[in-house]
Amino acid sequence: MSVNDGDTGVGSRVIERTLHRKRTLLMLLLFAAILVLSACAGTDRLGIDSIADSDLPQNSLDPAGPAARSIDGLWWLVFWIATAVFVMVEAALVFTIFKFRRRDGKDRPVKQVHGSTRLEIAWTIVPVVLMAALAIPTIATLFELRAEPDPSENALQIGVTGHQWWWEFYYPEYGITTANEMHIPAGRAVYLTMTSADVIHSFWVPRLNGKRDLVPGRTTNLTMEADEPGLFFGQCAEFCGIAHADMRQRVFAESESDFAAWAAAQAEPVTPPTEGLAAAGWDTFQISCSSCHAIDGTSAVAKLAPDLTHFASRTTFAGASIARTDGHLREWLRNPVDLKPMRPEFNDLSAGRVLGMPDLDLTEQQIDELIAFLDTLE
Ligand code: CUA
Repeated sequence: MSVNDGDTGVGSRVIERTLHRKRTLLMLLLFAAILVLSACAGTDRLGIDSIADSDLPQNSLDPAGPAARSIDGLWWLVFWIATAVFVMVEAALVFTIFKFRRRDGKDRPVKQVHGSTRLEIAWTIVPVVLMAALAIPTIATLFELRAEPDPSENALQIGVTGHQWWWEFYYPEYGITTANEMHIPAGRAVYLTMTSADVIHSFWVPRLNGKRDLVPGRTTNLTMEADEPGLFFGQCAEFCGIAHADMRQRVFAESESDFAAWAAAQAEPVTPPTEGLAAAGWDTFQISCSSCHAIDGTSAVAKLAPDLTHFASRTTFAGASIARTDGHLREWLRNPVDLKPMRPEFNDLSAGRVLGMPDLDLTEQQIDELIAFLDTLE
């Protein structure tokens, strides 16, 4: 009996030590995995971050236009009031804990009270007054953000349509359609009229504006302005399916003359190339791509996927999630779904539904030709 007992004791200690060692090992492995994964987060395989001149390109606390500045001002007002409330409440809590702590030798029953009308009225009224006071600038800011720009401001009109998972921008004044990258004149109001082709999306360029939803079957509006020329990054702010995170946009704010030059170049129709690789690429385009993509001035007029009229003038593609380089285009044309999560298996062109670009089974030769053609679309 006693020998057996001893054996069990030693055995369980061994098991316990082994378990402990295993747990330590597991914790170390987990820690290593976190380190490795956080290192991965910094890589930029698709080159999209390479032209952001800041580590925080979407910082709404760094406003670059009137709308974003109003939101920022309101945010700081609420922040400082909340901070003051927090400090006062915590100070009262800490004071109470120390003042009324249990002391040696002074242990006595606490006086039992039930409710204090005066206190309860006070801590009901103070928050009500505070909230009511905060509602005044909040509602004022909401109305200010919703206001249509004054006709004297000569606002630039842009139509925005959200698609799974890219942005379509239309400039009625110039007859320009582009995708994912918006050009605007700095220092002039821009009035966006927005809708969605499928599900709800939300237009958000944090340094320029607050979020505004794009709702299928409805139009919503947003006034936006950039103080100075610059590049502003944004992204869809309403979950809209598998590539929501890759539905980004770029806003290029330019001087009036640069903007006018851009708009004039974009309005130029395309003359398809007639010789060399690019001409062969145009042939392939008409067979494989033109059922979804349009190129102004040519026979390609479908509007189910991004308009590619001046594709080579853009810095990115695929919902502004990939830098536009020949290398990335080659990878993309081999199999788009490898670079961006999409659901082309659910496409139904006759119903106007496109959930991503399918693998078109292109040969390497066709891919070379298509890239040569796309590069001519400046
Ligand atoms: Cu579109 Cu999220």
